[in-house]
Amino acid sequence: MSSVRAAEREMHRGEDEDDERRRQRKLEEALEVKSLRRIISAYLNYPEAAEEDVRRYERSFKMLPPSHKALLSHYPLKFQRLRRCISVNSYFIFSMLQAFEPPLDLSQDTDVRDGPHLERVSYNHDVSGVKSVRSSQSNSTSERMHISNSDQACCGEGSSAVCSSPIGVTTKKEVNNEDHCDSITERHTSGREYNREMHNCDGNDAIDSNGDVSSPTRTWLDPSLQLHVPLVDVDKVRCIVRNIVRDWAAEGQKERDQCYKPILEELDSLFADRSKESPPACLVPGAGLGRLALEISCLGFISQGNEFSYYMMICSSFILNHSRTAGEWTIYPWIHSNCNSLSDSDQLHPVSVPDIHPASAGITEGFSMCGGDFVEVYNDPNQVGVWDAVVTCFFIDTAHNIVEYIEIISRILKDGGVWINMGPLLYHFAEMYGQDDEMSIELSLEDVKRVALHYGFHFEKEKTIETTYTTNPKSMMQNRYNAAFWTMRKRSAIATKQATP
Ligand SMILES: C[S@@+](CC[C@H](N)C(=O)[O-])C[C@H]1O[C@@H](n2cnc3c(N)ncnc32)[C@H](O)[C@@H]1O
Repeated sequence: MSSVRAAEREMHRGEDEDDERRRQRKLEEALEVKSLRRIISAYLNYPEAAEEDVRRYERSFKMLPPSHKALLSHYPLKFQRLRRCISVNSYFIFSMLQAFEPPLDLSQDTDVRDGPHLERVSYNHDVSGVKSVRSSQSNSTSERMHISNSDQACCGEGSSAVCSSPIGVTTKKEVNNEDHCDSITERHTSGREYNREMHNCDGNDAIDSNGDVSSPTRTWLDPSLQLHVPLVDVDKVRCIVRNIVRDWAAEGQKERDQCYKPILEELDSLFADRSKESPPACLVPGAGLGRLALEISCLGFISQGNEFSYYMMICSSFILNHSRTAGEWTIYPWIHSNCNSLSDSDQLHPVSVPDIHPASAGITEGFSMCGGDFVEVYNDPNQVGVWDAVVTCFFIDTAHNIVEYIEIISRILKDGGVWINMGPLLYHFAEMYGQDDEMSIELSLEDVKRVALHYGFHFEKEKTIETTYTTNPKSMMQNRYNAAFWTMRKRSAIATKQATP
């Protein structure tokens, strides 16, 4: 009799736990929806926020005495041109959003209070790749998406903290077979204005003569679901635009030559004997907009980019999977700052993207982008000893705890595998005073190296590379980093054991 009662009690406890887990999952999903809506809203708020800037410039101009105004008689025309540039940027952004397929039902009720224990949540979702979504390394964890309160859109020049605070990330499902010609039917006024402008601009036939569009609506782009977002969120969108230049424009070639080329040359020489039949596997954590991961794939590696920012993933997925030709889009990346311009035409300089057609670039089978927090995704036991190379470019300083990053990099590498790093130590969570007391371990380069030795690495190469990060090449301000470049090799477990006292 008592054993029956014990079994019943056990059963009830099981049911309670199931209920609790269900509640928890629902809450997590609601928070994810909220985060994603906020990111989409930030993208959608771009035209309005940019327009507000122009209105501000106009107000200042109006305050000038007539004699000063007369000296700047070209200014009204500049404001007009700025508005046109904003329209063109908005066109790119809205096209990108239209191509995006949210992993969650964004119209669902999200009336939840954000419990502190739910700041970081994750869920399973497919991720995108140019050709084949899954690499041979794919497993359940490599498909995990992450929405985090520490999502960071990265900007270099002009922003003291390279990355700013909250929100989340997104991804897209498989891509190549989809035709995303549909357009947004309704939007707030500025959106409609932009549509009309674009119609006049380049005769885009998805938009009718009233500035309306005929194709099916993305219901989650409905204005009623849009949130008011702080300007700092819209700043992240502007940073993404600059990241597009770094990764996907001819104007970013110099920066790519400084940052990506030494990594590619190193991989090329370290894996000189690689074969097409059995390509080595390379992971790129913090892959940003995916160019480095793509170049590594084109070099003959199974390449996987890992990225946790929805801002980045929406954009990289669009460029990698939806670009039809090189130079398909025009953007104006530098219009948002009047500072340090040599001329108005520099500020209003158009940039064509992408500089190459990614799908024709010659990728190796197995190229993929994996959405999710590096720590969560690659701490999985299935990832142990999987990778021949891990490449980190401007990434290791994004850690709350850099020791944990190094430990994971060591664990997921095969014995004899290599870690190539390039970047500064501008810790992203340093100086985030008052922000929920975010943990931030900020090691010197000397300590980083010491920790790496502890985790079984030994140095093969080390140098300093001078570089910029998302810098306007024509600006009078050029922030430079003396970035650390190294190649470290993971010793075999036995050798590490023998070397450790
Ligand atoms: C400074 S950016 C560098 C991007 C790219 N590697 C480059 O060189 O242009 C750092 C990137 O790491 C991403 N990131 C930061 N923390 C991450 C994490 N824990 N897991 C995955 N990605 C992360 C950011 O979203 C951002 O895209």
